[in-house]
Amino acid sequence: MTPAASTPTEWQIDEQVAAAVRAGLASTPKRLPPWLFYDETGSRLFDQITELPEYYLTRTERAILARHAGAMIAQAAGARSQRCPRLRIAELGAGSAEKTRILLRAAVELQGSVLYQPVDVSATALLAAQARIEREIPAVRVRPLAMDYTNGFAFEPSGPGERRLVLYIGSSIGNFEPEEAAHLLAKVRAQLHPGDGMLLGVDLVKDEQMLLAAYDDSAGTTAAFNKNMLARLNRDLGANFDPDAFLHRAVWNPGHSRMEMHLESRLAQRVQLAALDFVADFAAGETIHTENSYKYQPGQAEALLAGAGFAPASAWTDERGWFAVHLARVE
Ligand code: AVI
Repeated sequence: MTPAASTPTEWQIDEQVAAAVRAGLASTPKRLPPWLFYDETGSRLFDQITELPEYYLTRTERAILARHAGAMIAQAAGARSQRCPRLRIAELGAGSAEKTRILLRAAVELQGSVLYQPVDVSATALLAAQARIEREIPAVRVRPLAMDYTNGFAFEPSGPGERRLVLYIGSSIGNFEPEEAAHLLAKVRAQLHPGDGMLLGVDLVKDEQMLLAAYDDSAGTTAAFNKNMLARLNRDLGANFDPDAFLHRAVWNPGHSRMEMHLESRLAQRVQLAALDFVADFAAGETIHTENSYKYQPGQAEALLAGAGFAPASAWTDERGWFAVHLARVE
């Protein structure tokens, strides 16, 4: 029987989204998890952020990869040993895999062809990345895996004489709390074998003004990205947020070495979430904490990798020391 209109049961709700939103808006202070940013609009806005003049992260990491991809791939493959094993490359949170192509080209140069296994929650992003990579670099065979890797994942076994290199670039690790980051890397490590490796991209602590600008750009793209989370809740959970009734706030938290994003209510207001049969009351100035983006201190990434059971091997950075890419091995 069809449920009556306007009862909560008419909503096709994603239980993971519902549980996270209910818990986050019932807590004090209010919070919402950053993975809620990435609906179709949010993913498009994030791609725009990566092109912004203030958002130095993507550009800087791309330059590090462009300069050192050959060395990264050679070291991961153990190219100086007499019998150089073949490398297969997996990537967590691959998205559009835009920077990854630099590493794939280096792998093709070293061994003629390469198997690439991108993992991402967005099947659409994966299919687009696959089509583009196979068109541009035909020696790369792409085997995408659409799944939420934060909920556990399993790599298919590698073949004899192969080494696996897992990429986790783009400072994605920075969006996890330190203990979650450690747990995620340990899960990756548990699936690897001696000789395998991991390439981890981390953003480094720097001048506060630069960090603030990167997370509160003059074009307002990051503000739109942050507020889009409210539009998503309106659509997915029948909420009635007015995104204009909230301000985008980017804050540097030196005690935790992280950039934070918040949405601040401009006024006292009540928001209904029909699909959850839930009401959220906001005082004027009250915030929803939507994201942490941890910035690493020297030595911190190495400690994180070592704690997860990796042996840190090499690190590459840019001349200004803004961003670092670490290679760690399984011994
Ligand atoms: C995806 N992640 C690494 C980005 C970051 O910098 O933490 C997300 C982002 N948030 C605001 N701007 C970009």
